[in-house]
Amino acid sequence: MNGAAFLPAGRGQLPHRAREFLCSALFRLTTAYQARRPFARKTQPAFASGSRLSVSKLKMKTNIGLNDEARLEVGQMLNLILADESVLYATTRDYHWNVTGGNFRSLHLQFEEQYTQIAGWIDEVAERARSIGCGARGNWADLTKAARCSADPGIGLPAEHMLSELLALHEEMIVQLRTDSEACGATFKDAGTADFLTGLMERHEKAAWMLRAQLETEEEEAG
Ligand SMILES: [Fe+2]
Repeated sequence: MNGAAFLPAGRGQLPHRAREFLCSALFRLTTAYQARRPFARKTQPAFASGSRLSVSKLKMKTNIGLNDEARLEVGQMLNLILADESVLYATTRDYHWNVTGGNFRSLHLQFEEQYTQIAGWIDEVAERARSIGCGARGNWADLTKAARCSADPGIGLPAEHMLSELLALHEEMIVQLRTDSEACGATFKDAGTADFLTGLMERHEKAAWMLRAQLETEEEEAG
């Protein structure tokens, strides 16, 4: 393809040199435009990092017998749980990948089973927030910033230390969920979320038991 294709020939319209110059310039401009990098434009993030969540930015009225203030407070509560669960999920998966030692296979499988369960719980927490008309924080940077818990990274960490870290995270969740569940019922009159959080707490209690029992075995073997 060359520049001549861009301007039709016409009788007496432009002198030949001027027409040639215009054709060439137009061709160069078009080629440069076509060669520009695709997807070069930055997109806006879904949520501004660190902002006080979008729970209050939803337009549809939620008429479920809870006042807006209670819904927003419970929404914030659920989003903090979502952030903590995400850290627990990522930590369990990290340990699944990096565990070593004599119990490698059983721990590798145990951690996989637990992070798969936690992934399902995360979805339920997010959907609980949406069910009461609040937003659900899904941006990873926002989640890690909001999380109240943390654990040691898995690379090079002894298996027993991994078990202790995960047990501590689950136990922190249990304590938090017990407090939040009580507040949902007593303070915010949100029986549905109180019930949901109690159920979630029970699942963490079972997961903590599985880890604690494994740790007891480790300690007995070490002693
Ligand atoms: Fe895996």
